[in-house]
Amino acid sequence: MADQEFQKPTGTQDIFDKKQRYFNKIYEVSRDIAYQYNFETIETPIMEKEALFKRSVGESTDIVQKEMYVFETKGGDRLALRPEGTAPIVRSYIENDFYKKPQPVKFYYCGPFFRYERPQKGRYRQFHQFGLEVLGKDSPALDSQLIRAFYQTFEELGLEVTFKVNSLGDDSCRPDYKEQLKESLEPDLEDLCKNCQERFENNPLRILDCKNEECQEITENVPQIVDHLCKSCKKKFKSVLELLDEMEIPYELDPFLVRGLDYYTNTVFEIFAGKGPALGGGGRYDKLVELLGGRETPACGGAVGVERTVDAMREADIDVTEKRKKVFLAQLGNSAKKKAFELFEDFRKEGIPVYESMGRDSLKSQMARADKLGAEYTLILGRQECIKGQIIIREMKSGKQETVPLDKVVKKIKKKI
Ligand code: HAM
Repeated sequence: MADQEFQKPTGTQDIFDKKQRYFNKIYEVSRDIAYQYNFETIETPIMEKEALFKRSVGESTDIVQKEMYVFETKGGDRLALRPEGTAPIVRSYIENDFYKKPQPVKFYYCGPFFRYERPQKGRYRQFHQFGLEVLGKDSPALDSQLIRAFYQTFEELGLEVTFKVNSLGDDSCRPDYKEQLKESLEPDLEDLCKNCQERFENNPLRILDCKNEECQEITENVPQIVDHLCKSCKKKFKSVLELLDEMEIPYELDPFLVRGLDYYTNTVFEIFAGKGPALGGGGRYDKLVELLGGRETPACGGAVGVERTVDAMREADIDVTEKRKKVFLAQLGNSAKKKAFELFEDFRKEGIPVYESMGRDSLKSQMARADKLGAEYTLILGRQECIKGQIIIREMKSGKQETVPLDKVVKKIKKKI
């Protein structure tokens, strides 16, 4: 056990072995689907100016008030470890004049994010997301297509997911709705939890997704935003839902879905597999580019938590272990070692990973290693074989051996595994 002083920080983890294979699989599949949907990969810094998140995610949100890792640099800048990926991408869109590209521009990203939350299952202080953002065009078709891309990513991973969707309206209908909501909540204000009492003034919509039972009882009968959308927001939302129906994407309307970030307008969604916490979420953010100093730019996007997806895959018994049989290459003597290096390259070029232990010289210790690794086949290259241009293929379980020409071995093994 590492000295307490040097242990990893609370809420972080080392990702290796089986967990690493799940991570790889999720990144691989999400990247492939993003590519098929014409998203370009973007990487933004892990730290950004604190002000970027204050302005975009919102001063009154839990993320900004309680969860951001903020520090001052030696030069006196106040930076934050990124708690989410949308604000940095919008910043990058503005800073790099992406509005000059054909619109919409579509970005895929993945990597670590940081929130100072109370660690528990599915909640870390350093966690990972992959995300998709579409900027520069306003059409319900884009919202639905985005949701479809996420849906297909999960399908490819073998997970059955459903979406919760809602619309938060825009500046022309939301303020009115907020007032009506407050009016309806006012008589019960004192019975709301402390958090919600604070939200009442500066973020009343968040009261709708409070997990406190008493708050939920109070909000059960309040007016719902979908009934208070203006004509244009209603029309957009209807189109999104119609397209989801057409694409046969499973979803349910959730009038209490409001999301924990302030930048959303119109469509919002969350992704679920079974009863666990949300695997991902997102929505439209048509005002964010302007809010950060850019020109008017409609946009939508979403992000998925990798750790939570791993948990869901494990719960659904989705296996990601390498199915291919393992091959070990053993060598004996100097000339064989040289040949083995060449042969290793031949296998590599064919995309076949071969285990070896070039640092070991005795055949016995190499065979022991092959056994330990669970190799199905061991290729044995000794001095005799080298001279004759041959190699032995040993089937580890049965101990059966055959000698084959060196230049045929890659082909032979390819067939066997
Ligand atoms: P979010 O809902 O805050 O949205 O996070 C998206 C997902 O990240 C969550 O559903 C969850 O799976 C994962 N996640 C968040 N916090 C943690 C945590 N502490 N530990 C483990 N997983 C976590 C956003 O971040 C938005 N930027 C999504 C978006 C993109 N909206 C538009 N574009």
